[in-house]
Amino acid sequence: MSVNIVFLGPPGVGKGTQAHLLAKSLGIHHLATGDLFREEIKNQTELGRKAKNYLDQGVLVSDEVTVAMVRERLQGDQYQKGVILDGFPRNRDQAAALDGILAQRGNALRAVLFVKASPQVIIERLSGRRVCRAAGHNYHLLYSPPRVEGKCDIDGSELYQRDDDRPEVIARRIEVYRESTSPLIEHYRQRGLLVEIDGEQPIPVVQEKILEALAISVNDFPKVQV
Ligand code: AP5
Repeated sequence: MSVNIVFLGPPGVGKGTQAHLLAKSLGIHHLATGDLFREEIKNQTELGRKAKNYLDQGVLVSDEVTVAMVRERLQGDQYQKGVILDGFPRNRDQAAALDGILAQRGNALRAVLFVKASPQVIIERLSGRRVCRAAGHNYHLLYSPPRVEGKCDIDGSELYQRDDDRPEVIARRIEVYRESTSPLIEHYRQRGLLVEIDGEQPIPVVQEKILEALAISVNDFPKVQV
């Protein structure tokens, strides 16, 4: 039985940061749809051309394109033990598609980690975020700054601000989250899968809370060290 976990929450709340850390703790791969789209855009693929306008405007890429991409990626051998999903599903149709994809493999979702923070915290995190050009490593000007200004600690590449972290696009992304994604909170709560996490604490504290919550609410997590 594989371990399949979803990170749910508003833009910039720290889903990517925590999904990466949890993937390391559990030894399970992380799949972030936003990262996949940015990679396709960078490589100027057909899919990247289709996705670019949506990302620039802060709205959702069509379900057809997104679900097909996730379905295809999850066939990779690295996901046999399960997956930590970040940024997917983002609406009810994607949630239904995910159930179908997992059911075809004889699996189901184990938990949905809903990371919460106030709008002020979210805006501060998004406006201070910087990302490395080469591999997407994540920094924050105040909370996790690079050792050398403007350069990635890991690969030395240039740090840049994502196009969709401009104020007008941030506002649109928050609106899209409220309209399309936030109904999933109730959807998963009713299914008994929702685990609520206070995302306003520093990164290591949020990480610890997530591990604690999983150890308490989900059985069979042999690698979780609390
Ligand atoms: P995506 O890349 O998924 O963006 P998002 O959901 O808006 O999330 P973010 O990546 O902005 O934030 P995050 O919560 O991961 O926060 P992070 O850890 O980086 O999607 C982008 C676009 O792709 C969408 O708008 C859409 O167009 C498209 N798309 C993606 N998925 C799709 C789907 N399923 N369907 C259709 N379209 C889709 O943290 C943010 C900052 O805060 C960082 O600087 C970090 O260092 C800092 N930070 C994190 N945690 C803390 C903490 N605890 N304390 C202090 N600082 C912190």
